Amino acid sequence: MNALPSSLFSPLVQGYWRMAHWNMTPQQRLTFIKQHVELGVTSVDHAPVYQSEALFGEALALEPSLRAQLQVISKCGIIPGQGEQVAHYDSGQAEIITSVERSLTNLQVEKLDVLLIHRPDLLMQVDEMAEAFAQLKAAGKVEHFGVSNFSVAEFNLLQSRLDVPLVTNQIEINPINMQATEDGTLAQMQQLKVRPMAWSCLAGGQLFNGESAQAKRVQHTLQQVADEIGASCIDEVAYAWVMKLPANPVPIIGSGKIARVQTALNALELTMTREQWYRIWAATKGHGVA
Ligand SMILES: NC(=O)c1ccc[n+]([C@@H]2O[C@H](COP(=O)([O-])OP(=O)(O)OC[C@H]3O[C@@H](n4cnc5c(N)ncnc54)[C@H](OP(=O)(O)O)[C@@H]3O)[C@@H](O)[C@H]2O)c1
Repeated sequence: MNALPSSLFSPLVQGYWRMAHWNMTPQQRLTFIKQHVELGVTSVDHAPVYQSEALFGEALALEPSLRAQLQVISKCGIIPGQGEQVAHYDSGQAEIITSVERSLTNLQVEKLDVLLIHRPDLLMQVDEMAEAFAQLKAAGKVEHFGVSNFSVAEFNLLQSRLDVPLVTNQIEINPINMQATEDGTLAQMQQLKVRPMAWSCLAGGQLFNGESAQAKRVQHTLQQVADEIGASCIDEVAYAWVMKLPANPVPIIGSGKIARVQTALNALELTMTREQWYRIWAATKGHGVA
């Protein structure tokens, strides 16, 4: 297993899950894309279920030359419920290929830099998936492949059938949800020298508005550490906390406000001590280490 070029993703990635709620005109969307690219956030994270690919593509079509500066990530495998049909997963060969073709059309790009299987599908036939990946690569439609929300066993299973390394596991990591630090996912990434991508680094906003006793403890401690290390707000501390993990996660930014993208980038300059990192850990857990 080899390490990927560290340049595969920009230091932070812009997420587009919430774009449909940003109520931007195509020109405003284009301006936002250009602004984050100018700040060095050149990787963009999409998924068909976010229903934002066409909005992004419409903006990109206003200035197609911008594509060359982007690393475009999208996903596949979640089939939303419709009528009597329940939402389900499909990572069969036909669905993977059809989904990528739809994403390319909606995003108005020729190729995805990275395709992720969005969630582990209990019915996944990994040989079929490997075949779909090979076809997409040969057709020039996808450059790299990865997964999202996969367990260690699921990652190993799929990897065992591929002759190219999976480039990431995109997982939730934030000071409230530390599951990936405990279930071996991050240890596996570190072992394989594969950089995970971290989604919901701000716990989807709960870091600011969470009302539980745990959320309050975490908010208080993040503010305390912010004051100690000269961070302007707790967002910066949360991103720095995620990036201190030795698996070297790449945070995905969820906000559509350029000032908040800048805030996230400020975290790259912050350092915290082990004691400060564990103080945030202890605030979440409600106890210190043994
Ligand atoms: N693979 C997966 O299964 C998966 C799952 C979820 C997400 N993702 C990816 O990860 C990206 C990020 O996830 P996320 O959106 O949950 O990230 P997040 O950063 O944890 O949450 C973003 C939310 O927090 C709010 N927020 C940010 N700063 C704030 C502040 N200072 N005060 C109050 N609210 C604030 C944002 O509001 P504003 O918009 O108003 O700033 C937005 O609603 C997504 O766009 C998507 O690309 C992947």
